[in-house]
Amino acid sequence: MLDLIAPTTRLHNAWLDAHAEWGPGLHEDGFGLAPTDEVESPARFAAWVARLADGSEQTTCRWIVEDDQVLGGIALRHEFNDHVQWAGHIGFGIRPSARRRGLASWAVGRMLDEARGLGMDRVLVVCAANNVASAKTIERLGGVFEEIRDTELGPLRRYWITIAEPNA
Ligand SMILES: CC(C)(COP(=O)(O)OP(=O)(O)OC[C@H]1O[C@@H](n2cnc3c(N)ncnc32)[C@H](O)[C@@H]1OP(=O)(O)O)[C@@H](O)C(=O)NCCC(=O)NCCS
Repeated sequence: MLDLIAPTTRLHNAWLDAHAEWGPGLHEDGFGLAPTDEVESPARFAAWVARLADGSEQTTCRWIVEDDQVLGGIALRHEFNDHVQWAGHIGFGIRPSARRRGLASWAVGRMLDEARGLGMDRVLVVCAANNVASAKTIERLGGVFEEIRDTELGPLRRYWITIAEPNA
């Protein structure tokens, strides 16, 4: 069954399997993984999972899982701080073998529910200007295009999604 769960050490091996599929050198959007995080050893993995959960980063991190397989990650940043002003409130990524099944759209929709629960009334979501899959996902969830902004990471498309009332 498809589910969105809080990061857990129980799925260490499954997470490593997904990590290996992304391959080296690629940024795994949505997992809150910093270049300095070491995730191979159970102890360091547990430390990383604990950091994601401790609230210090004002971020809700979730894994997209199915039958104990980790298919993707998604993160909702709560504050509109300097980082979020260019990176957006929501980051997400789906492992290559699980793409084009509607998982990103499903997960972003679920995170919008989380955002509503936190009292957020709109979220900024950005993607690289040439990232067609991400742009389509954001537009499918109601993203309204604002502009393309040049950043250190290259041009980014910026969208705002208004958080609708339940059953609106
Ligand atoms: C972007 C990404 C998350 C999309 O995940 P996904 O689960 O495959 O997306 P979905 O199946 O929900 O598809 C959403 C929309 O994108 C379209 N899409 C997905 N992959 C596509 C591709 N490679 N080319 C064109 N359109 C694509 C789908 O057709 C769908 O559009 P529709 O609603 O018009 O039919 C995934 O490709 C990924 O992880 N990419 C690398 C990380 C990344 O770019 N993250 C986003 C950072 S902002």
